[in-house]
Amino acid sequence: MTENIGEVREFWDSHPCQSDLSDANDRRIYFDEIERKRYAHEPHIPVIAQFENYHGKDVLEIGCGISTDGLQFARGGACYTGYDLTPAAIATAKERFALYGAAGRFENVNCEHMPAPDESFDHIYSFGVIHHSPNTEAIVAEMYRVLRPGGTFCVMIYNRSSINYYVEIMFLRRLFRYMLLPSFMPKLLSRITGFPEWKLQGHRDVMLSQGALTKEQWISINTDGPDCPLAKVYNRREAGELFHAFQDVRMEAHFFDRTHWPVIGKRLPDGFCQWLGRRWGWHRVVYGTKPLTGAASIGRSSAGRS
Ligand SMILES: C[S@@+](CC[C@H](N)C(=O)[O-])C[C@H]1O[C@@H](n2cnc3c(N)ncnc32)[C@H](O)[C@@H]1O
Repeated sequence: MTENIGEVREFWDSHPCQSDLSDANDRRIYFDEIERKRYAHEPHIPVIAQFENYHGKDVLEIGCGISTDGLQFARGGACYTGYDLTPAAIATAKERFALYGAAGRFENVNCEHMPAPDESFDHIYSFGVIHHSPNTEAIVAEMYRVLRPGGTFCVMIYNRSSINYYVEIMFLRRLFRYMLLPSFMPKLLSRITGFPEWKLQGHRDVMLSQGALTKEQWISINTDGPDCPLAKVYNRREAGELFHAFQDVRMEAHFFDRTHWPVIGKRLPDGFCQWLGRRWGWHRVVYGTKPLTGAASIGRSSAGRS
């Protein structure tokens, strides 16, 4: 697990999130296909984000990536700003907005230190971002600072109290990790399970080159691919502590990813997958409000970690 934001930037700059969901040459077909696949695979996103509810509101997205969700906020009439750590994401997001004639502002920034003045936004949205940053607490302190009193947020972070964490990452993948060591296994396992061969090969390379990993390193490489330098997980208490300065904080779980379960995944009824997601899903969605009165800002810690 890295403390170095440069490594995080380098990783996401070379893997803009979901930019590989289409290989179409035509850019409109490319972006449309990404959008369609994203919401087909993660149908809870429009439900939690409520894109249409922010008409005329100043909305900030932290870690907008290639701004699939940002485009929906803009289409809903929000005054949208997207921040991302990487030049690649910002360039693609700008290209996308220009292509669809959507209005939005983008900045290439580390959201541990945001350029916006105090109390600039009515709503902050962030999906799968702040758990990848070394100083997540600093991002949350900045959220508090740039939100207007009474402003709201919706943030997705990875859920520790989930099937992904306890069953897949900490049990099954650890139990079977040595199966990857023979050189033919990535290809064979890929054929049997349907997992991408390059990912399995990457996990094998990490095991051979790094030997014993810390628990934090193991979590990081088993979330967003074997090269992912940093990912953290949060249970209800940990997330509550992270957002303690806000009021009306509530949380939901979403997303049981059936594609992680070869053979049985396809056969599970949709309703059962949704139920598993709501109970032990991988996405912990946190909602909250900045109090109307109280401290203008909260302390920023560079040492803390959940
Ligand atoms: C998993 S991707 C999610 C992107 C987008 N939210 C989505 O759902 O497609 C994580 C994104 O967070 C960005 N990111 C990570 N740490 C960040 C930070 N400290 N400040 C701004 N963006 C950050 C990365 O550059 C990357 O684009």
